[in-house]
Parts: sequence; structure tokens; C-alpha cells
Amino acid sequence: METVLSGIRSTGHLHLGNYFGALRNFVKMQNDYNCFFFIADLHSLTTHPHPDDFHASVKIILSEYLAAGLDPDKCALFIQSDIPEVSELYVLLNMLAYKGEMERTASFKDKVRLNPENVNTGLLTYPVLMAADILVHRANYVPVGKDQEQHLEITRVLARRFNSMYGCDVFPEPQSFKFGSGPIKVPGLDGNGKMGKSEGNGIYLYDDEQTITKKVMRAVTDSGPTEPNSEKPVVIENLFTLLKLVSEPSTVEYFNEKWNDCSIRYGDLKKQLAADICKVTLPIREKIDAIYNDDAYLHRVTSEGRDKARASASATLALAKKAVGFRTF
Ligand code: TRP
Repeated sequence: METVLSGIRSTGHLHLGNYFGALRNFVKMQNDYNCFFFIADLHSLTTHPHPDDFHASVKIILSEYLAAGLDPDKCALFIQSDIPEVSELYVLLNMLAYKGEMERTASFKDKVRLNPENVNTGLLTYPVLMAADILVHRANYVPVGKDQEQHLEITRVLARRFNSMYGCDVFPEPQSFKFGSGPIKVPGLDGNGKMGKSEGNGIYLYDDEQTITKKVMRAVTDSGPTEPNSEKPVVIENLFTLLKLVSEPSTVEYFNEKWNDCSIRYGDLKKQLAADICKVTLPIREKIDAIYNDDAYLHRVTSEGRDKARASASATLALAKKAVGFRTF
């Protein structure tokens, strides 16, 4: 069976965009591939989180992914820093990664521009750590968004370079995992494209009913249709896209007809949308709380995940070290 791997950022909460996008696909993949999913806590150190918050943010995102459908019996779900083999492979790969090529990485240049006061070398070699995450399990596929494509390309370069320098074929070149229907784009509530964390236009799985209702009622609209059967402007189309994700087809149809005969009232549409979002997310919110407060369960999940991941990682690392020329005395 082929191996799929994905790292999960350890900061922030899951929003509807994550839930209907990447996460839904992860949940499906669990059945068809040998899956490795992990919380990338080492990567988050580039921004120097406060020690008091560091563990809590990992715990939150882990609880949210579990509540939203990742099944630790079907995949290896683990914490990146629990796998020391990753750090060891990172050292080996750093010797093959050139300063110039790291400096030319788009994500590095962005970060230098946004945070000129914190240009640490962990940031510079962020793609090497990501390559170690992937290569240590000899993963075949990595589901990545556009912003991570270049990192995956660097991973392939490092895999090729390692294999050719040491005359071996330890590392397969991982490919970007393409979903059959393409990723679902979940729009934000501000009419400005995708729902995202940094955009501040999101609804989170952990939002309560009041918060969700307030956010939806404040969503940007226009002054309403002036002609029957006219095309919907983007802000309105966005609300319908969300409605299609969470509501019954008959509800979507109802508001579509109202749009088409110009009798639509956006207040009614938003009320319905908020209620239907709550129907989807509130049960997940309850699960998040239950999991977050179940230390025994979280301990079991992360220990089992760590054991599965370390078994795979240590086998690869042994091959890599042998190729490099390490021998025991
Ligand atoms: N860099 C990824 C992100 O910001 C997270 C990540 C870390 C990752 N290691 C990975 C993703 C390995 C895929 C594979 O989203």
C-alpha cells in the first residue's frame, strides 16, 4: 500500500475551510493508504511560541483533528517532536541543502519581509525539516496546498541529491497528492475569497452558537437582485456555496428560487445558514471538549502514533546512515 503523509500546523483552530477541505480528504484517505499525520510542533518554534502556550496549542489542534474525524486506529497520528529520527535526518539533509537555494524559497522571502527582526536559520532550513518529515517515512504522496508546493519540490531535490551522492535509492521522490474532484474552496464571510486563519474571515469548529450567528449575520451582502434570474455577485454566491456545504438541497433550492424571483431576504438566508452551520459544528465542538479533557485517551493516541511512526522512521534512518557511511564499532 502506498504511503501518504501530511504535517498539520500546530497553531490556531480548525475552521470550516479546513474541515470541508483538507480534513475531509484526510478522513477518506485513511481507508485507502498507509497514512501518517502529525502535528508539526518543531516547525512552530520558528516563531518562538511562549513555553506556557506551546503544549496547549498542540493539544487543541490534536483534539480538533480527532473530533473532526481522524481515526488513530486507521492512521499513524503523532507529534513531530516525539520522533527523534526526524531531527537526526534533518541534520544529515542540512549538509545537502545549499544556502542560496534556501534563501530563494518563496516562503522564506515572505517571512523575511514580514518579520525582519526574526530571520533565524530554523526559518531558512524550514523546508529541510519538512523534507525530513516526509523522507523519514519514504512517503509517496503529500497532499499540499499551493503554498507548500515549493517545499515539496525541495524535498524531491534533496531526495535525488542524497540518492545520487551516496549511490543508493533510499528515498523515493514524493509526489503531490491530487484529489479526484480538486480541493473544495470554502469562501470567507467578507467576500474576499477563501476562508483562512490570517484573513480573519473564518468560522471555527470551536465557535459557539452565538459567535457563529454573529459572524454569519455580519457577512457582507449587497442591496439585492434587481432583475429576475440574474447572475449572483461573488459575495452572494459565497453565501450559497456555504449553504450548499451545510444545508439540505431543498433549502438551497428554496433560497435560489427566492433569489431568482427577487424576493430573497438576506436576513432569512443568513439565519438559516447560521442554524445549519451550528447543526454541523456544535456536535463536533462537544467532542473536542470531551477529547481535550480526556488525558488518558490523548496519551494512548499519541503513544500508539509515536510507536507506529518511530518504527517506520528508524528503519529509514538506518538505511540512510548506512548509505552515508556510518558504521558501529
Ligand atoms: N509546512 C506545512 C504547513 O505549513 C506543515 C508541514 C510540516 C508539513 N511538515 C510537513 C506538510 C510535511 C506536509 C508534509 O502547512
